[in-house]
Amino acid sequence: MYRTNTCGELRLSDTNQKVVLSGWVQKARKFGGMIFVDLRDRYGITQLVFNQDINAQLCEKAEKLGREWVIQVEGTVAERSNKNPNIPTGDIEIIVSELTVLNVSETPPFTIENETDGGDDLRMKYRYLDLRRTPVRSNLELRHQMTFATRTYLNERKFMEIETPVLIGSTPEGARDFIVPSRMNPGEFYALPQSPQLFKQLLMVSGFDRYFQIVKCYRDEDLRADRQPEFTQIDCEMSFVEQEDILNLFEGLTRHLFQTIKGIDLPAFPRLSYSEAMKLYGSDKPDTRFGMTFVEIKDLTAGKGFGVFDSAEYVGAICVPGGAAYTRKQLDELTDFVKRPQIGAGGLIYVRYETGGNIKSSVDKFYSPEDLQQWTERAEARPGDLLLILSGKTEKTQKQLSELRLELGARLGLRNKDRFNCLWVIDFPLLEYDEELNRYFAKHHPFTSPKPEDIPLLDTRPGMVRANAYDMVINGVEVGGGSIRIHNSELQKKMFSILGFGEAQAQAQFGFLMNAFKYGAPPHGGIAFGLDRFVSIFAGLDSIRDCIAFPKNNSGRDVMIDAPATVSQEQLDELHLKIELPEE
Ligand code: AMO
Repeated sequence: MYRTNTCGELRLSDTNQKVVLSGWVQKARKFGGMIFVDLRDRYGITQLVFNQDINAQLCEKAEKLGREWVIQVEGTVAERSNKNPNIPTGDIEIIVSELTVLNVSETPPFTIENETDGGDDLRMKYRYLDLRRTPVRSNLELRHQMTFATRTYLNERKFMEIETPVLIGSTPEGARDFIVPSRMNPGEFYALPQSPQLFKQLLMVSGFDRYFQIVKCYRDEDLRADRQPEFTQIDCEMSFVEQEDILNLFEGLTRHLFQTIKGIDLPAFPRLSYSEAMKLYGSDKPDTRFGMTFVEIKDLTAGKGFGVFDSAEYVGAICVPGGAAYTRKQLDELTDFVKRPQIGAGGLIYVRYETGGNIKSSVDKFYSPEDLQQWTERAEARPGDLLLILSGKTEKTQKQLSELRLELGARLGLRNKDRFNCLWVIDFPLLEYDEELNRYFAKHHPFTSPKPEDIPLLDTRPGMVRANAYDMVINGVEVGGGSIRIHNSELQKKMFSILGFGEAQAQAQFGFLMNAFKYGAPPHGGIAFGLDRFVSIFAGLDSIRDCIAFPKNNSGRDVMIDAPATVSQEQLDELHLKIELPEE
């Protein structure tokens, strides 16, 4: 028997028990005639003691132990004189009577402790060692708990987990596909699914009624802290439901996870329409942990000779509580922030509402104190507050103001990771116009149903049509999104035509779906949560990478296994692929 107990479970009540433990040597230190070893496994750390006076030979053997050696010990549980209140096993130690070395280890490239000396790249290269560290492992434990609780919740509500294929065909909408050449079908390619969207809809046609899958999805897009090329969805679909049914059921799932895993009872999730979200926050995934909502002041600024505001389509302000005390340097920093190319504002106007009641601004030349007072009143500013104002094209300026708002929220410590503000953003526009390509794109995906009352607008003002689509947002992160689907093949055909697919192309790409819809498709809808994002919010992580066992880096590489990599000419030949690399 390798062990009678784990390294995390022995307590004072086990004193005098004979036990066998196995694990990794985290640390060994000599102290007079004693050697203390921290023995680690997944469950915790237990202190081992080797005593020169009791067993000199054993002590000699223990002295040779190196970091990360795998050992087995037999011994007796004893009360520690020098207790460690920071670990659950800190009241006891094991007086070792036998030591077996199960495996030796080379000195690891970084220390495997909660605080490590290893840099990011090194830890990614040796990810299997990084995963031995408690903070990293506990993120995966949390992920497991969330996945397990999700399965239980959905199973109890009659959802069936059904696997859908990973080798499918490429679809033109959405992100870029990862493609896989087919050896047996020269010149043809599979694509990896960006989501199981079409299959889950087909399962509804098949009558499965409630489907879910915790499933890998693949998207070849630029990576960010909340994006990985392969990520996991909690993917769900239901038949005979309206939007309200889906919102309630999945608000329930979210609340259940917060309750069972974090012990937090959340209030009902507010619902915000897309247009309100843009107006108040300039974002369809607002961080509602703090206020500083937008105030439009275009009407109050017009006609005073300030060309920048006069020519702007939109003039918007946010009110920074206590911001009047910002120094010139701080204001310059904020101006530099909005002028960065990623944000692209021309400049930043400020109005200081000083604690004494005076109002001073960077546009005093154009506006009287009475003018400025109107602005502060509209923004409900109080003495001591600061207005920050951006102007320009509406959508672009709202996005810039949103970035500024988030930056200030962070600077003012208002984005507390222990607070969770969930909401639904609903009534998304069905379509989005791409000025460059001169065509409409589906805002969610081409299978999303327009709101029935907006269907007549499809022919006249397609840009105004709202969708039965919704996102769940937590702390400014889009955690999930879904929609009620089109289940009528005629309407689906029309949607494809608005999206610029010719009849033949629509038939070639999605013929199977339109055909299936001819055979009695039930009304249906669904949602998918990004599991990685969900877990990282629960864990308070800055990047979803930290809750994925073997993630890719920002260039989409797995530096541990060194993928992607070239393949042999033989493999290329078999796949009928010719590679021509551009000259360096
Ligand atoms: P959508 O494209 O909105 O919807 O994706 C659903 C959720 O998946 C997560 N997500 C990602 N997470 C990590 N890395 C990525 N690259 C990434 N891309 C998306 C987000 C997002 O909210 N089939 C539809 C769902 C439906 O309509 O039912 C879909 O995939 O958290």
